[in-house]
Amino acid sequence: MNNIPDGNLNDSAYQELVEKISREVLSQISTGEDKLKNTVKGSIVDILKKSKIHFRPSEIENIDITDYGLGDFYNIGLALIIYVNSARVCAKELPMTPYQICPQHRHPAIEKSPGKEETFRCRWGEVYLYTEGNKEKEIKGKIPEKYKDKFNVFHEIILRPGDQYTLNPDTWHWFQGGPEGAILSEFSTHSYDAGDIYYDKNIKRIAVDN
Ligand SMILES: [Fe+2]
Repeated sequence: MNNIPDGNLNDSAYQELVEKISREVLSQISTGEDKLKNTVKGSIVDILKKSKIHFRPSEIENIDITDYGLGDFYNIGLALIIYVNSARVCAKELPMTPYQICPQHRHPAIEKSPGKEETFRCRWGEVYLYTEGNKEKEIKGKIPEKYKDKFNVFHEIILRPGDQYTLNPDTWHWFQGGPEGAILSEFSTHSYDAGDIYYDKNIKRIAVDN
């Protein structure tokens, strides 16, 4: 499998990849196919390209995308490239569009696991991560008016490239890409598709967990 050459990313190569993104992936989002195509072309792929991180074409073709069932991908949504999700470890890359939010959630104990532990590391752009604790100042994150009551933890951790933060299991958290968007790496214990608890009760459909 060939990597896309770093520093030699031409638009036609990416355009070709975007066209190959499967209909199955497109159907994961409730905002509609045309809107998703524009999102992928205009935002996610652009961010992948800007970051200059190597991805295999097949990883881009099979990117996981969710809008959490809210139909508002640019505000509340996430794209995920999953490197590994074995019985014990998980690693993924999360390309985020400008000011896109991964909504507030926690990972409780499930089956024999004490709950998922996560480490987030910013690779490109800027990420505003919020968790339980004191709200020390005005936050940099921007919550659209209609979602103001869907968040209640505001202890802010600003992650720039090279910065990382580890969350204990079952801790409320949410995060948002900065003005240019971001690429956020996540290293964790096993990711379960079910069992996560979202603060916004309107969230009813999740393609993959994060
Ligand atoms: Fe999480």
